[in-house]
Amino acid sequence: MAAYEYETHDYDVVVVGAGGAGLRATLGMAEQGLRTACVTKVFPTRSHTVAAQGGVAASLGNMGEDSWQWHMYDTVKGSDWLGDNDTIEYVAREAPRAVYELEHYGVPFSRTEDGKIYQRPFGGHVTEYGEGKPVARACAAADRTGHAMLHTLYGQSLKHNAEFYIEYFALDLIMSDDGACTGIMAWKLDDGTMHRFNAKLVVLATGGAGRAYFSATSAHTCTGDGAGLVARAGLPLQDMEFVQFHPTGIYGVGPLITEGVRGEGGYLTNSEGERFMERYAPTFKDLASRDVVSRCMTMEIREGRGVGPLKDHIDLNLSHLPAEVIYERLPGIAESARIFTGVDVTKEPIPVLPTCHYNMGGVPTNYWGEVLRPTKTDPDAIVPGLMAAGECASASLHGANRLGTNSLLDLVVLGRATSVRAGEVVDRAGAVPNSGAAKADEILGRFDQVRHANGGHPTAEVRLKMQKSMQNNAAVFRTTESLAHGVKEIADIWGSEMNDLNVTDRSLIWNSDLMETLELQNLMANSSAIIEGANARHESRGAHAQEDFPDRDDKNWRKHTLAWIGEGGKTKLTYRPVHVDPLTTQAEGGVDMKKFAPKKRVY
Ligand code: FUM
Repeated sequence: MAAYEYETHDYDVVVVGAGGAGLRATLGMAEQGLRTACVTKVFPTRSHTVAAQGGVAASLGNMGEDSWQWHMYDTVKGSDWLGDNDTIEYVAREAPRAVYELEHYGVPFSRTEDGKIYQRPFGGHVTEYGEGKPVARACAAADRTGHAMLHTLYGQSLKHNAEFYIEYFALDLIMSDDGACTGIMAWKLDDGTMHRFNAKLVVLATGGAGRAYFSATSAHTCTGDGAGLVARAGLPLQDMEFVQFHPTGIYGVGPLITEGVRGEGGYLTNSEGERFMERYAPTFKDLASRDVVSRCMTMEIREGRGVGPLKDHIDLNLSHLPAEVIYERLPGIAESARIFTGVDVTKEPIPVLPTCHYNMGGVPTNYWGEVLRPTKTDPDAIVPGLMAAGECASASLHGANRLGTNSLLDLVVLGRATSVRAGEVVDRAGAVPNSGAAKADEILGRFDQVRHANGGHPTAEVRLKMQKSMQNNAAVFRTTESLAHGVKEIADIWGSEMNDLNVTDRSLIWNSDLMETLELQNLMANSSAIIEGANARHESRGAHAQEDFPDRDDKNWRKHTLAWIGEGGKTKLTYRPVHVDPLTTQAEGGVDMKKFAPKKRVY
């Protein structure tokens, strides 16, 4: 192996990732004077949160009556009763505070006539514990809410002297012999130097793994890096089989067209011009939860009522909306539709198709963001020194299906929660841990092996094969046959191509070939967890629609999957119980849990 020198940095806290969760964690740590570094592979304001459009959920009640209890109910129901009720209560209760905090930090929310934060309806958000009308709960900055949040949080983090290490790729976690996380190794992409970050606490906020699939709304940078780091450290991933397909990705290319379009009055039609959602979800129609809408669209296409020459997509109509509403509230999607499809949304429908959008699963954590390493006797045992938040984590706010706009909320509430907890557990006066040189050398050894990979399969070719397999075998609908096929294909890729990769560029500076190969290793860990977890789950719940097991089976399957990914992708599955108890009892001011008992999920 080539000898690698590295620079060592010591911090109280190292946050990996600078999207919404990473920046909110960084800001919270820095605000309380913890010495904080944020290590990110892309410039912070280019993180994928920048692409979030429709809004951030909070029961402000600016556009009609609302309550955190109704928000909690909708999220429990949206999760198809797989979410952890303590986390869900924490987030629904904290949401209004978190949004006002963003407002005070400077997020330029759109406004109502009387100057309040503008809110729009989104799928699955309703009143009266699921029995009432849709509610406008999504606090929006036009259709660029994530963009506005990300820029504001970055500015605030700088103001509080957080230190940023930009365009550094995290190679692996440094784990001590007794199983604590003591830092990370990273590769600086623009000059090829290596860096060791020792820290009292590492927070993973690396985003999702949308690029495990062929068609995704996610940026090309969404390669499940946090899950890869965790899997290689011998820790499990939770509920990875639950992958959300957003109903309205632009046909053929993938970028998101916000559900906010339907929130503002847009609707879907098939080749007969029928508003088919009225048939499937008579009450909430186009504002049913997004797993339901994606399945209905897929059924329309399968039954021959798709639009276009190949009858393979669906129309999203908004041309009946006043042009000034479109340009004021939905300017971003008007632009995307024009750029990617040539459509003028004031005149024509946008061609759309369900597209991979979000990973409900991830690194298991409690609602403080502490990473879990469940044991037989303690399903909630934590890993000292390691936290995770945002899409890379599974707290589990979203369970089997996430409601739109609960993601930006997750980032800010649970991103902040890591810093609240850090304030309690980080020993400011204590020494920064250092697990010794051998750990770093081991990580650099793996890096060097990949750098000099000299086999017969270019990374891009292997990645495409993985993406096609995931798309064909584990998308909106799944069957016993497709999942078994997917398990075999992914295992075959591990067994053959992954051992025979070809990296052509050996340099260390701006070597995208090498970086994409390291990302592919991360994506493969995600893919194994997704396909193996899905293959084993013999029921349909939330985003996991298994056609051979069409019903939800609470008796056997209301439990979290844990996927432990070993050498060469060998996967072992175990399970841990769902937290059915809320954070507070009714006597303490909490909800009446009788209202939250599992039932059939209809919209
Ligand atoms: O449709 C959207 O604007 C997406 C929102 C979300 O995924 O939360």
